[in-house]
Amino acid sequence: MANKSYKIAVIPGDGIGPEVTNVAFEVLQKVAKRHNVTYLERVFPFGGEHYLRTGEVLSNDSITELKKYDVIYLGAVGSPKVKPGILEKGILLNIRFSLDQYINLRPVKLYPGVETPIKDKTTADIDFVVVRENSGGLYSGIGGIMMKGTQDEIAINSKVYNYKQVARCVRYAFEIAKNRPRKLIALIGKTNVLTYVFDLWERVYNEIGSTEFPEVKREYYHVDAACMHMIKNPEKFDVMVTTNMFGDIITDIGAVIQGGMGMAASGNLNPCRTAPSMFEPVHGSAPDIAGQNKANPIAAIMTMKMMLEFLGEKSAGNDIERALNVVTPMNLERMTTKDITKAILENI
Ligand code: NAI
Ligand code: MG
Repeated sequence: MANKSYKIAVIPGDGIGPEVTNVAFEVLQKVAKRHNVTYLERVFPFGGEHYLRTGEVLSNDSITELKKYDVIYLGAVGSPKVKPGILEKGILLNIRFSLDQYINLRPVKLYPGVETPIKDKTTADIDFVVVRENSGGLYSGIGGIMMKGTQDEIAINSKVYNYKQVARCVRYAFEIAKNRPRKLIALIGKTNVLTYVFDLWERVYNEIGSTEFPEVKREYYHVDAACMHMIKNPEKFDVMVTTNMFGDIITDIGAVIQGGMGMAASGNLNPCRTAPSMFEPVHGSAPDIAGQNKANPIAAIMTMKMMLEFLGEKSAGNDIERALNVVTPMNLERMTTKDITKAILENI
């Protein structure tokens, strides 16, 4: 069997970040051995504590350094001692933009035994992926403020998209839909009010769908209706594709219905592979439970599975998936980080 080797940049971050990252890499070590996958990992110290100690959030030199890796694994960054916004913009958004990670991929899947707050829904009903555009829209940073602090103050954030950004995102979502059994996709927008931006999205969606992916069934929902359906009838969805801000919001609904922050993984992808993609659990640094052996490492383990799949290591990913299916019915609420880790490792 071919012996592949990957270079992995690891940013454990703050709070529970390092705790769950350690678990994910224990899991990686075990599956890598079984599948002849070799890797080099280098740990980068970025995060709240590093910023307080050194003044560096994430320098341009560090970005250049990160570009030398195949993938980046991030635990979570954020410290109660650092003002909100500094690390989000300086680390997370900076990496997403600098490395052209234009897709945020968020699987929403209810695992066996995991409690969903939605009555009567089972693992068969909650199993979809959200493809969130990750490079533009309301998060482009285009806008400004004038006459600040006065009654005449004006504040603007613009929802900005160009054809290319929409096309590459939609095309990626169709590729995923094509490879799933249901071959079903839904564009989530607001065509009735945001008539310019969603005119572009809807046109590109239908154009690419009808010409390149005729086998995929296309649907459309307004974002508010989509929120309702995600809770009332999540089984309606297979692949959802949407803008940056709508995606940010609906993926939180996704995290809740799949069992909460401890169960949600994500990838910030550069599908063209011109720079590394970054994988991270959805949760933050959870300072309230840090250092207490209470963090649920499942999200971090699912994140590792996504990373392996992105690298093309499908059978290593399948090993993790099988272990997850055995362990999630074990009453995770009552288990410590170490208990869950042990159970996963025993089942690989
Ligand atoms: P959070 O996700 O860290 O915590 C929210 C709640 O969920 C807390 O009660 C926490 O104990 C619980 N929780 C989160 N992950 C858990 C896990 N794996 N197992 C068990 N319980 C878990 O969000 P919060 O409190 O809003 O933010 C804390 C810090 O994290 C802030 O500094 C924030 O800026 C940062 N943050 C970082 C993110 C990232 O690095 N991508 C994402 C979200 C927040
Ligand atoms: Mg969010």
